[in-house]
Amino acid sequence: MSEQLPTAHVDILLAAAVAAPSMHNTQPWRFEIDGHVIDVYLDGSRTLPAEDPTGRAMRIAAGAATFNLRCAAETLGYGTWFGLAPYPREEPDLLARIVIEPSGTRNEELADLAEQIPHRHTDRNPSDATPIAEDVRVALMQAAYAEGAELTWLGETEVRAVRDLVLDTDLREIGDWHRSAERAHWIGGARPVEGIPSSALGPRPASYPGTVRDMGTKPLDRMRKESAFEAHPDLAVLSTGYDEPADQVAAGAALERVLLTAVRAGVSASFLNQPLEFDDLRAKVQQLTQRPGYADMIIRFGHSHPGTGTARRPIADFLPKDRQ
Ligand SMILES: Cc1cc2nc3c(=O)[nH]c(=O)nc-3n(C[C@H](O)[C@H](O)[C@H](O)COP(=O)(O)O)c2cc1C
Repeated sequence: MSEQLPTAHVDILLAAAVAAPSMHNTQPWRFEIDGHVIDVYLDGSRTLPAEDPTGRAMRIAAGAATFNLRCAAETLGYGTWFGLAPYPREEPDLLARIVIEPSGTRNEELADLAEQIPHRHTDRNPSDATPIAEDVRVALMQAAYAEGAELTWLGETEVRAVRDLVLDTDLREIGDWHRSAERAHWIGGARPVEGIPSSALGPRPASYPGTVRDMGTKPLDRMRKESAFEAHPDLAVLSTGYDEPADQVAAGAALERVLLTAVRAGVSASFLNQPLEFDDLRAKVQQLTQRPGYADMIIRFGHSHPGTGTARRPIADFLPKDRQ
């Protein structure tokens, strides 16, 4: 199809896409548009070689961006067809190809979730003690299934085991200057267009190991106010059956579908992903789910006030020079 999408529509689609979560808010995606086809590529200048050497976190972020784009397309009266990581060997950086078409039937669920995109933020604040309601738990599991992933809620014993794995991770990271330098590069301070600003770090957990990841690296961030966090956090693991690039992109789509469904239900989310950065600990996390597969995210759900947002680069930054 050679007819171009209207610029105003492209702006809406891409603004929704780039609102997706990404590790350290690196926004590691770029887009190429040809007629009604939008390709989502990895931006190789935004890698995290110490903490994400295989690029899995980047592929998850690209999947989340793809899901947002599909939701936004529904609000504009389009439907979408898409393929995830369609040519993993020939074009490993091409993570999704999305065809935007006039739609016969609007997907009400995706259009509804699009409304939640501006309200989703990673919320690193303490949650109150109210457990996540059973119907919400089921809705979040269904959201993961709908995108080809699985969300497993952890019981108390497994939550304790995750905390132990967090401790193991911290011990391994002691003296790992490559990781701390990478974090310091992306986290702390004002961060007007990318990275995580100090304002989004939330309070420091008063007990150790905390139920949120303390991302603060800079001296001022390490001295920020402390708070008590919930003693029994509601944790769930998002996994996929396989670990190919397309599976990791699908995990990202599932992540975003789960997070937007959570926002609609008044439920906040943050992540405790540090054990997943080591292959052996990642396998242990998956074992806790008692299912085969590969763990992609450890999500802490709760009820707190919406977190402070993080900024995004201007849309033009994500397009080739001749489209800016
Ligand atoms: C693959 C992936 C891994 C992440 N890991 C963590 C983590 O371990 N701890 C954390 O606090 N946030 C984590 N995040 C959340 C990002 O820091 C967050 O999405 C980013 O800063 C943008 O902020 P926002 O989600 O509020 O839009 C992760 C996000 C993604 C997509």
